[in-house]
Amino acid sequence: MDRVGYSPAQDGYHVTVLSMNHPAISFAILKDDDTDIALAVEMLRAGKLVAFPTETVYGLGADATNREAVLSIYTTKQRPANNPLIMHVSSLEMAQRYGDFSSAATELAHQYWPGPLTLVIPKKASAAVYNDGREEIATIAIRCPAHPVAQHLITGLGRPIVAPSANRSGKVSATSADHVISEFSDAPGNLAGVIDGGHCAVGIESTVVDCTHGNMRVLRIGSTIIDEISYDKNFSVSVSSASEVMPSPGMLESHYAPSLPVRLNVERLEEGEVLLGFGKDMAIIATNGLNLSPSGDLTEAAHHLYDYLRQLDSPQYKAIAVMPIPDEGVGMAINDRLRRAAAPRS
Ligand code: TXA
Ligand code: MG
Repeated sequence: MDRVGYSPAQDGYHVTVLSMNHPAISFAILKDDDTDIALAVEMLRAGKLVAFPTETVYGLGADATNREAVLSIYTTKQRPANNPLIMHVSSLEMAQRYGDFSSAATELAHQYWPGPLTLVIPKKASAAVYNDGREEIATIAIRCPAHPVAQHLITGLGRPIVAPSANRSGKVSATSADHVISEFSDAPGNLAGVIDGGHCAVGIESTVVDCTHGNMRVLRIGSTIIDEISYDKNFSVSVSSASEVMPSPGMLESHYAPSLPVRLNVERLEEGEVLLGFGKDMAIIATNGLNLSPSGDLTEAAHHLYDYLRQLDSPQYKAIAVMPIPDEGVGMAINDRLRRAAAPRS
């Protein structure tokens, strides 16, 4: 198939490759090579959105300095305007142009960047970047991703990229280009291109740590394990258990949700359900379904979580039943996402 260059001055953009699965899509599917990343940079410069791989999940990116482009993220993914966005940078030095890093925040960045850790930092008054759907807020969440495509895209643009996870608001996050394509094929909004970088290695979102106060606090349990953060220095990060972060069922906001209902900690299957298994005992409960990790490896389970939830989300079943997952290490992040997937839908 012909590859056609991006030409914003003409009719917006051209599709470069049409997916067999999604013949009607109107955005470009880009490769993760230099030529296509340069095309993606052009799209961002023109105020368009580009979905790109990170080591955690795919992001739906906009040039952080372009207010209109940032606002179009909210309409494209139907995100509530009061939910701020993470800004992705290529280095701590770039981050420090926009946020006031305490010495403790700087140490965390040195220890975990590039990687799946997001730091919420006081925003510099001079920072001409946008990270909220309404008026600007005083803080900014910043992450330096490790994925080479994300790094390449940010350095190519020469500016930070704000990006939420590349899914419709409240739905299951995307860990492959195909997931992104199926999320946005019907209503692409301002999305111009999706860079196909294969499956995300980690598979679950970054850990978010609030560094705006003296006592740093985990706001979202994620793939960087807070227990492993060493606090032999002059600071500490308060470590919340999953149940403290989600104190009561009434506070569970439905999120990461497939179309089917989700039932947790099952020991036996009810009629019509399909099983999302974990560990060597899956066959005792059911043979139909998918096993997040037959060997009981939580890192492998995190890698498969969103892909398997999507695969099992089929109208032929009544619900997705999930086996218990150990609430330790990255299992805490997996359980956090599963609880929200199972929360009552509004
Ligand atoms: O791994 C990740 O973090 C992925 C990849 C694409 O980087 N991004 C991601 O973005 O998960 P999103 O928008 O789906 O989740 C960002 C989370 C939300 O819970 C949001 O409320 C929180 O970070 N957040 C963003 N800015 C914040 C701020 N200034 N203060 C407090 N929380 C913030
Ligand atoms: Mg998200």
